[in-house]
Amino acid sequence: MPPVTVTPHDRAVAALEPFGTLPDWLAAVMRPERLEESLRRHATGLGDGGPALVSAETDQLRAKGERWLVRVLVTLAWPDRDEHSEVALVGELHPPHLPGRADDGAVVASEGEPARPGEPGWRVRLPDLRLELTAEESDGALPSLGDLVDPDASARLIEGMLHDAGYPSARVATTVPTVARYKPGSRCTIVYDVTYDPPSAALPNPVIAKTHQGEKGVRSHEAMTALWATALSSGDAAVIAEPLGYLVDGHIQLQGPVPEDRILKDLAHEAFQTEDPVLLDDLRLHLRATALALAALHTSGAELGATVGFGDEVADARSLVDELARTVPDLARWAEPTLTLLEAADRRIPADPQVSSHNSFSPAQVLLGPGAPAIIDFDSAAMGEPAMDVGRFRAGLRCVGVPALAKGPGGYREDRVRARLDLLDDLCDAFLDAYRSRAPVTSERVALWESLDLFTSLLHTWTKGRIEKVTPRLATLRHSLGNPLLPS
Ligand SMILES: Nc1ncnc2c1ncn2[C@@H]1O[C@H](COP(=O)(O)OP(=O)(O)O)[C@@H](O)[C@H]1O
Ligand SMILES: [Mg+2]
Repeated sequence: MPPVTVTPHDRAVAALEPFGTLPDWLAAVMRPERLEESLRRHATGLGDGGPALVSAETDQLRAKGERWLVRVLVTLAWPDRDEHSEVALVGELHPPHLPGRADDGAVVASEGEPARPGEPGWRVRLPDLRLELTAEESDGALPSLGDLVDPDASARLIEGMLHDAGYPSARVATTVPTVARYKPGSRCTIVYDVTYDPPSAALPNPVIAKTHQGEKGVRSHEAMTALWATALSSGDAAVIAEPLGYLVDGHIQLQGPVPEDRILKDLAHEAFQTEDPVLLDDLRLHLRATALALAALHTSGAELGATVGFGDEVADARSLVDELARTVPDLARWAEPTLTLLEAADRRIPADPQVSSHNSFSPAQVLLGPGAPAIIDFDSAAMGEPAMDVGRFRAGLRCVGVPALAKGPGGYREDRVRARLDLLDDLCDAFLDAYRSRAPVTSERVALWESLDLFTSLLHTWTKGRIEKVTPRLATLRHSLGNPLLPS
């Protein structure tokens, strides 16, 4: 028998296997039926004249070092009210006892909590799920949020910012705020329909405000300003939003609108789920246009303040592994061969020269409208090698395409996963070809960034408790590590 050669790639793929099963203490809180059952059993004040529990679900789980922060949305039905009310609970999931740690993480149920359900001070302890929660008060990390969702206060804020942005005659009569995206404790994006007095088509409408915890909005505003000063503002190959200002005190970034009929991610999801040939053709066309838009961003000539390289991103992935390993020590062993493989590959093929990059480019950051695709969300924008955005985008597309199998006939049956990965290879290669018709990029570097991004996404299925994403992301990463272009 010929000797069997075990390559670093085989070792990496084999070591990843245990990532495919989330431990029960982590998975349980993500299952609404488990949460509801536990709440009915342990929460004080439900039923017996108080409100009845209608439903509950964990809308956010975030690992921060040894702490697992949780946000749960609970819907209550009150005996004397027609409408249900929704209460947000925030708190911690306490992982089970680890050898050598003093605290065994146990959560003890307690009786006679004073506050009524939904009221400030309402505490819930769920020992079976190791959860401890209290009613959420205001979002302390986003102090401007109250004003931003208030029509009057936001109208004044927007008017003041527009004056400083070169629209001195703008008078904002009313605004209708709509929260487009809210990540509690992190950031919120609000879209405003503005009524100007007098009305004017020359004024931006809608306008978009985004507030961040910390200073991320400054980076975004500065990057958008640098990009807006280039030919990109013509909107020919790529549309970007006009930067309208940044308020240091409130951490508020204001920008103009880009057309949005559809998010590319949603089109991709529908096309992959239905496998409708018309939608898949449509997706191909939009992917091609997106590649050209990305090339336009990269060739803008703008100099952005921050710089990012592969080494920084591997270091971030390693920190994430270290953080998770505080709770699940074996995890470091599962991850190490992949990290070593990617670092070795990075040393083998040099990076291309840096260009003005998005640095979190994915199908969710592309809005489709009548003209060229719009690229949004410059929170992480930096100078980086072109393969970074190209590789991440391809990884993102795969992370939409494979999970779309879940509800179809046969689910993740092996032959279906195989066929889906082949289709994605084809679409990703077409994306790369279209990009290269306008700008240079080294294919091996694209494969490298793509694998790193898929690896980080797999880690996040753990940090965020994404039980439904574990299987498809692991399958996708293994496939990607097998790409012959990945330098070995
Ligand atoms: N300039 C814009 N024009 C129109 N809609 C926007 C604009 N910026 C953001 N949005 C809307 O807000 C949503 C969230 O914005 P984004 O900046 O991507 O936030 P996040 O950092 O949470 O991903 C987008 O998906 C889009 O629907
Ligand atoms: Mg975004």
